[in-house]
Amino acid sequence: MTTKRQSIHGQWSSRWAFIMAATGSAVGLGNIWRFPYLTGEYGGGAFVLMYIGCVLLVGIPIMMSEVLLGRRGRQSPINTMASLAEEEGLTSGWRYLGWMGVVAGFLILSFYSVVAGWTLEYIFQAGSGNFLTATDEEIGEIFDSLLRNPGQLMAMHTLFMALTVIVVAMGVQSGLERAVKFLMPALFILLLLMVGYAMSTDGFEEGVYYLFYPDWSKLSGEGFLAALGQAFFSLSLGMGAIMVYGSYLPDDASIANTSVTIALADTLVAIMAGLAIFPLVFAYGLETGSGPGLIFVTLPIAFGQMPYGQIFGTGFFILLLFAAWTSSISLLEPAVAWLVENRGISRARSAAIAGLIAWVLGIGSVLSFNLWQDYRLFDKTYFDIMEYVTSNIMLPLGGLLIAVFTAWLMSRKAVIEELGLGEGLIFRTWLFVVRYVAPIGVVIIFLHAIGFL
Ligand code: TRP
Repeated sequence: MTTKRQSIHGQWSSRWAFIMAATGSAVGLGNIWRFPYLTGEYGGGAFVLMYIGCVLLVGIPIMMSEVLLGRRGRQSPINTMASLAEEEGLTSGWRYLGWMGVVAGFLILSFYSVVAGWTLEYIFQAGSGNFLTATDEEIGEIFDSLLRNPGQLMAMHTLFMALTVIVVAMGVQSGLERAVKFLMPALFILLLLMVGYAMSTDGFEEGVYYLFYPDWSKLSGEGFLAALGQAFFSLSLGMGAIMVYGSYLPDDASIANTSVTIALADTLVAIMAGLAIFPLVFAYGLETGSGPGLIFVTLPIAFGQMPYGQIFGTGFFILLLFAAWTSSISLLEPAVAWLVENRGISRARSAAIAGLIAWVLGIGSVLSFNLWQDYRLFDKTYFDIMEYVTSNIMLPLGGLLIAVFTAWLMSRKAVIEELGLGEGLIFRTWLFVVRYVAPIGVVIIFLHAIGFL
């Protein structure tokens, strides 16, 4: 007999609140900053298709697993994994899966906060009308000179981290939930307007072609791994963020429906971001492969030229900041939940401690654009390494272990009870995918990327 656990941290007020919070976690810089720049680096349509394939075959099934584990364990990912493993008569060593997630969360937040800091800076840049009068070159120069300025980068990184800590400190319902309700729809509408503007430029056709016409010759093992990593990154999977959000999910909510809704919304936003950005890249003759700076040089040019660009530009970067904010809180939540559970530290203090750790780690990312830019490993800076190791290694590895745990080790009865899908075709399809397709897919992509296959 199983008695239902209760979370000591509270619960979402409804299924809808969970969808909003989890979508808030998923939709962020990953969709609007990272997805377009990776698409540009890895050659357009082929990358987009790989990405969508990874979301469908690996992302959605693993998201269901993560929510399932979270709701069943109802604790921080570390304790959830320990209790569920114990329940199944397995080694409590599974808690290290939770630990890896906590570490990945710190590492991701450390560079995420720096990029969110660029967004903050751009609110001021757009607001003061700087993009209206600047030439394309001058707009590129605004970005480059920001990167050369560690003081300014540190200030913005610090400000963003403080914002993250404040919301996490306020707790599940009052903090996390309230932040997402209005801002997500607003971002969506503004993005639609941006796509509308992109349609009016003469790069639209070329942009659409670039995004949706796969040039397979551009595909590499490295690109495949990047697409997999991006699926994990964008859906917030593999480190316990969705698990900890699942631990606050009411018992009667359908895990399958909510997961599919969240993944669709997330993918839609990424595609819209691509549709808003690539036409501009072609219309203004910019480089598709210009890396992490892509949106910070293309979009300002558009804001400089479109009617009411100052208002739209400011609004856009404000909403992007909020999207980043509702994501960053989920990176901190697993560590904070653990500190509250195991160390008996108050939520506010825990948030401050965890935020401080991520902030310190982020200093390296700040410096990697200026003072430390020549310190490289495999030609990658500190920032590049953080991004690469977390998205392309830690998250897929975490996801792989989550899939193995749910589909191979957990008792089928527990899984069926938690998923609530019965034992019909949908359940069996999911089980097949989580047992075979997702884990084998991850392993093949890993081996392929390191040149083994
Ligand atoms: N998904 C978020 C984005 O796209 C980032 C994020 C939040 C994340 N929580 C996460 C990424 C957990 C990986 C794991 O911006």
